[in-house]
Parts: sequence; structure tokens; C-alpha cells
Amino acid sequence: MFEVKDIKDTNLIENPVIAQMSQYNHEQLLFCNDNATGLKAIIGVHSTVLGPSLGGTRMWMYNNELEALTDVLRLSRGMTYKNSLAGLNLGGGKSVIIGDSRTMKNEAYMRRFGKFVNSLGGKYITAEDVGTSTQDMTWVSMETKHVVGLPGKSGDPSPVTAYGVYVGMKAAAKEQFGTDALKGRKIAVQGVGHVGEYLVGHLVKEGAEVFVTDINQELLKRISSEYGVKVVGLDEIYDLDVDIYAPCALGATVNDETLKRLKCAVIAGAANNQLKEESVHGRLVMEKGIIYAPDFALNAGGVINCYSEFAGLNPDWGMIKAEEIYTTIQNIIKRSKQENIPSYQIANRMAEERIEAIGKVKLPM
Ligand SMILES: NC(=O)c1ccc[n+]([C@@H]2O[C@H](COP(=O)([O-])OP(=O)(O)OC[C@H]3O[C@@H](n4cnc5c(N)ncnc54)[C@H](O)[C@@H]3O)[C@@H](O)[C@H]2O)c1
Repeated sequence: MFEVKDIKDTNLIENPVIAQMSQYNHEQLLFCNDNATGLKAIIGVHSTVLGPSLGGTRMWMYNNELEALTDVLRLSRGMTYKNSLAGLNLGGGKSVIIGDSRTMKNEAYMRRFGKFVNSLGGKYITAEDVGTSTQDMTWVSMETKHVVGLPGKSGDPSPVTAYGVYVGMKAAAKEQFGTDALKGRKIAVQGVGHVGEYLVGHLVKEGAEVFVTDINQELLKRISSEYGVKVVGLDEIYDLDVDIYAPCALGATVNDETLKRLKCAVIAGAANNQLKEESVHGRLVMEKGIIYAPDFALNAGGVINCYSEFAGLNPDWGMIKAEEIYTTIQNIIKRSKQENIPSYQIANRMAEERIEAIGKVKLPM
């Protein structure tokens, strides 16, 4: 049972919740507790200016409530920017469930969570994220229609995400090398999971020379023999003499240490939060003459895929919409060069500009 003591421990007196919401302009938080199932969650609605807020449900063993609160505030705001920049009629939201996804989830637990989602009346739409699965969303869907990513519907978003990364990478290449052809380009793909494998497929098809690494040795072996790509060591990837580095595994891989080693001219991959510290490493990358395709612009295929399910669109629509990532990346890089401002900052501005413009037509829900 939670005691008042726990709340004090999280330092919420010095960091009051509404003050934190106000700092980043969040609309609403829903704190969810159910003693019967043990569910403890926070649903964050950052913005509904462009439409209902959409973002997945993350289940994680947070050390304390403040950590969970910080994560839901940060992630829901990030979704507002991603959805806006992708040109979707969606606001930004996200949920976090505090707990161990391996042992605590079951039908009752997820259906209880679905009831909380439903209580927001469509202001928030959920989907899978780290620690939740299509099975969990099926349980959620028994209590609310405000959920996407269900089996038999839009399905695995990875092909659309990978396609968006591929076309966005080509746009970045065009800005850096004068041509978007990737034939003969040396490209290092870090992580060959769901997105990484599809990306490797596109790159190999176009005739790029691809290098791959992954912590999963079996997967690596299969990818290497199936696609004829070269395997490199986990750390070796940062020292390769390549044209493009495509992080498709972890965040924060563009940092002080790796920037001393990376020889690429373009960074373009699917991973979220690639820059360890946006304000520091976004500028350092630019000063080194590397073109960085902002992650949330490049990997929007996943949310585009979710939107097609939400809006009842044909599954092919996602792939067609993901092609627009080419122009988005081109516009970001051109503006970044013209204004001498790091690309991630331009991407943020473009997202804000759309919210401001459409906000004149629409009011929040
Ligand atoms: N799946 C999507 O549609 C989607 C959408 C947007 C963003 N993303 C982001 O893209 C990235 C990849 O997503 P995914 O769905 O392919 O995930 P995934 O878990 O299927 O693949 C990640 C791969 O990275 C490997 N990996 C983990 N640590 C590594 C390390 N230190 N070095 C090298 N490889 C390592 C894993 O073994 C795994 O094969 C994630 O950061 C994810 O948040 C994915």
C-alpha cells in the first residue's frame, strides 16, 4: 500500500505536478490506481490541438513515481511533435504502467487499464510500446475502442517505419552527397531487429554495402547469410569508415565518446532519442559537418501505421504517407543549413509551427 511518506520521498513538494505540466504545456494527466489488480499507471495527454492524443503504453519497473511521471511527461510531449511533423491529425499522448511486464500483466490488469483509457472518452488512444504487446492491447480493446495496433488490423508497424527511415535516409544523402542513390554507399546498421532487418532489405536491394551488428548472435548470423551483409563487432561499428550510420537499436548512441570516433557523413536511423543530449550533441554533429536526420521525423512510419488503423484507411496508405518523410527530411536539412541551426531544433520548430497554424482552426478537445 502507498503511504503519504512515499509521495514525500519523490520530492513532489519541490517539484509539484501541475508546475511540471505547466512547464511543457501539458493538458491533462490521469493517475490510475486499482488495488484489486495492482495496476498503477499514469496517462499523459500533452496536446489535443491537432486531434486525439495518440501514443503507446510503456510498462517499466520505475524506481519511484517521480521517474514514471517524468517519463510520461517527456514521452507524451515527444508524441505531439512526432505526430505534428508527420502531418497527422493527432495530438500527443503516452501512458506508463509502473510494474514488471514479465510477471504482473494479465487479462484483468490490462482490462482495468483499458477502462481508464476509456474514461478519457477518446481524448487519448493507446497502442503497444516497450513492455506491452498486441495481446495486451486485445485485452485493452475489451474495455475501450480507443486502442490501435490490434492483431489483424494495422499489424506490425516495422515495415512502414523501415520504409520511412529508408526514404528519409535517401533525402539526407541527397543533401550531403548531391545524389540520393545509395548504390555503393557504405552503411552501418546498428541493431537488426524488427526495423533494422527491413531497412537492411531496402539497402541491399539498392546495392549499398551494408555492415551490421547486434547483441543477438543468432539473428546476426541469419541476417548476414540471408542478405549477404558484413557482420562487425558491437563497439567496432563506431570506428567504421562508412558514409552513413543508422542506429536502429538504442538511444543516446550519439554522444561525446562516439562523436570522436564516427567517420560517417550522415546519421539516419530508427532508434528514438539518438542524441544523448539534444542541445549539446545536436550542435556538435552539425559542427562536424555530419547531417543528422532527426529521429522523430525519420521513424514516424510507426505512428503513421497506427493512424491508418485509427482512421480506418487502407493499409497501403501508410506506405504512401511514409514517402512524405523524404520531403520532410529535405526541408529540415535545407532550413538547418540556411539558418545554421541544428536539424533537431528545426524539426521541433516545424512541428510547433504546424500546431500553431492548425490551432487557429481547431480548439483542444
Ligand atoms: N518498431 C517500430 O515500428 C518503431 C517505430 C519507431 C521507433 N522505433 C525505434 O527503433 C528502434 C528499433 O526498433 P525495433 O522495433 O526494431 O526493436 P527490436 O527490439 O525488434 O530491435 C532492436 C535490435 O537491437 C538489438 N540491440 C539491442 N542492444 C544492442 C546493442 N547494444 N548493440 C547492437 N544491437 C543491439 C536487439 O538485439 C534487437 O535485435 C528502437 O529504438 C525503437 O524504439 C521502432
